[in-house]
Amino acid sequence: MRIPLPLIRTSSGSHPGGRSAMTCRFRCGDACFHEVPNTTDNPYVGDVIAGALSRRSVMRAAAVVTAAAAAGTAATVAAAPSAEAAPATTDKPTNKGARGLRFTPVAPNTTDAVTVPEGYGQNVVIRWGEPILRGAPAFDPEKQTAKAQAQQFGYNCDFLALLPLPGEYNRQILVANHEYTDEILMFRGYDAANPTREQVEIAWAAHGLSAVVVEGEQKTGRLKPVPRHPLNRRITATTEFRITGPAAGSDLLKTSADPSGTKALGTLNNCAGGTTPWGTTLHGEENFNQYFANSSRATDKRYGIGTGATERKWELFDKRFDVAQEPNEVHRFGYVVELDPYDPHSTPRKHTALGRFKHEGATVRLTDDGRPVVYSGDDERFDYFYKFVGSKRMKKGSSRAVREHNLSLLDAGTLYVAKLTGDSPAIEIDGTGKLPSDGEFDGSGEWIPLATATADGAVSHVEGMTAEEVFVFTRLAGDKVGATKMDRPEDIEPNPHTGKVYVALTNNSNRGKTGYAGVDEANPRNSNKHGQVLELTERWNRADSTKFAWSLFLVAGDPNDPATYFAGFPKDQVSPISCPDNVAFDPYGNLWISTDGAQLGSHDGLFGVATRGDRRGELKQFLTVPKGAETCGPIVQDRRVLVAVQHPGEIDGADVENPASTWPDGPGTYVRPAVVAVWRKDGCDIGV
Ligand code: FEO
Ligand code: CA
Ligand code: CA
Repeated sequence: MRIPLPLIRTSSGSHPGGRSAMTCRFRCGDACFHEVPNTTDNPYVGDVIAGALSRRSVMRAAAVVTAAAAAGTAATVAAAPSAEAAPATTDKPTNKGARGLRFTPVAPNTTDAVTVPEGYGQNVVIRWGEPILRGAPAFDPEKQTAKAQAQQFGYNCDFLALLPLPGEYNRQILVANHEYTDEILMFRGYDAANPTREQVEIAWAAHGLSAVVVEGEQKTGRLKPVPRHPLNRRITATTEFRITGPAAGSDLLKTSADPSGTKALGTLNNCAGGTTPWGTTLHGEENFNQYFANSSRATDKRYGIGTGATERKWELFDKRFDVAQEPNEVHRFGYVVELDPYDPHSTPRKHTALGRFKHEGATVRLTDDGRPVVYSGDDERFDYFYKFVGSKRMKKGSSRAVREHNLSLLDAGTLYVAKLTGDSPAIEIDGTGKLPSDGEFDGSGEWIPLATATADGAVSHVEGMTAEEVFVFTRLAGDKVGATKMDRPEDIEPNPHTGKVYVALTNNSNRGKTGYAGVDEANPRNSNKHGQVLELTERWNRADSTKFAWSLFLVAGDPNDPATYFAGFPKDQVSPISCPDNVAFDPYGNLWISTDGAQLGSHDGLFGVATRGDRRGELKQFLTVPKGAETCGPIVQDRRVLVAVQHPGEIDGADVENPASTWPDGPGTYVRPAVVAVWRKDGCDIGV
């Protein structure tokens, strides 16, 4: 079935990355307007001699890994639609498509609602400000306080994890990232030039993570929070963290408040993440640069840290955000953090062995001999993606000693960065997205080791850098070894059924522009507005795997545009998609992709796409989110889909008085980022 494109245009005022100016300002610190921080002349795919490594020389990985996250509890579903249910498409339900994708795709639209396929219901699981800790007051945005916010669900939910909760019927632990705050939409009459201390402290408390127990309702797919559960927890911008791994205690991490270099306060800009096989959650600190003021160091410039004041002006309220006064505090952000949601009194950790960059997220799998392999993208135009291979093996069990051992797994191992080579002649990669004559954007790649952390110390593999420097200034290490400059690496996820690894590359407005890297076979379009999804074939189930084959699985956009590719599937049978960001797998091995900044006139959404069989490349849109929002944190279980609706109403010119969206509660209410559950009204599994 052909899905017509809407006759609506992208806002002419949108920013280069496709977002509203407000998104750029609050989320990324106007990253698109700043100079691209990677000014190296690192080779890109087209520069490297093709064919150094044959695609056929790399065997397919086929490890099947079971993650704790998969252990969700299915709910049965009754017919009653949610009060919040949005108008669905008028198409009849369909049973066509790959197993798991048999639903009528949602048409692209600009409805200020979460729109789901015909026959599906939805509910808001939890909103910004809902009380979760004992003693928390009800949400009152007109009288909000930092103390209240620290006991309530945070702002701008992104990554979501669901962990099993044995012994409590139909309950799970939901862990959510709170990436950043939109002060203009949180505070009536917000004066950006003169924020108050209370507003700043509310923002600190609205950042971070939430852990909240949720319960499935009998006979529906609804989820609801269980307030005051003893496992409920808030982590904020001021919670104490333990810095672990090879850079812990380094002079580079010592501050006047922490001469040990091992205790950091807070986590910031947590974007995507992962659930570990040992029952913890990982959270990437992404655009941490925007919170730090007044730096002129070259190392900070490589991370986009500004020379002047910040947007939120936190440096006026805590000197640790002023690099001129506290130069090393910024070295304590940009890591993957780990939370043990089963121990509400545990100190969360920052793992320096996974490197310091704008971590989109972190996805863990185990090698056949039980070691962790972690993939993480550095979300910046022309930056790199990474793999960490641990040297210690996971232990099974739940004793304190076993959990302590497993919490140290990400402190020892080798960090690698990816270098890709194309197999087609450079002249055939012409910047339009036209496929080369061999029919695929593809080639080979290698993981280049940067440094290895051991129990006895750390060893650098990068000439001219110490191991400490590699782990703290990881982008510079990638520069030195000639890593491949990518179109904004976002979420990365191995397919539990095939072992192939998928890397979302969201867009790159500067690709091919004067002064920037040109196209290559992995990043084949100039001024790339819509992004692509890379598929890696490697033996990640072996700790010594350093080679891979790759191809572009999707080249996103309007399927009518010849510069798109859907793994060879007929383009008149797929949904348009733009700006892939978070990725997840359903129980059948279909890849689910959420988008951020869609450039085709529709609101952002969630899409499922088959990765194997004769329907490989069949991509269908499952839902759209409200005005100004991006779709985050997808979890796709057999009977429930969970998404985080991040920054709804984030439209230029909008504020509390003049909201662009009043989702989810309607006129007269504050727009609120929230988590949404979607299920089938007839009680059957999603998409079958
Ligand atoms: Fe926070 Fe790369 O998205
Ligand atoms: Ca090729
Ligand atoms: Ca993201």
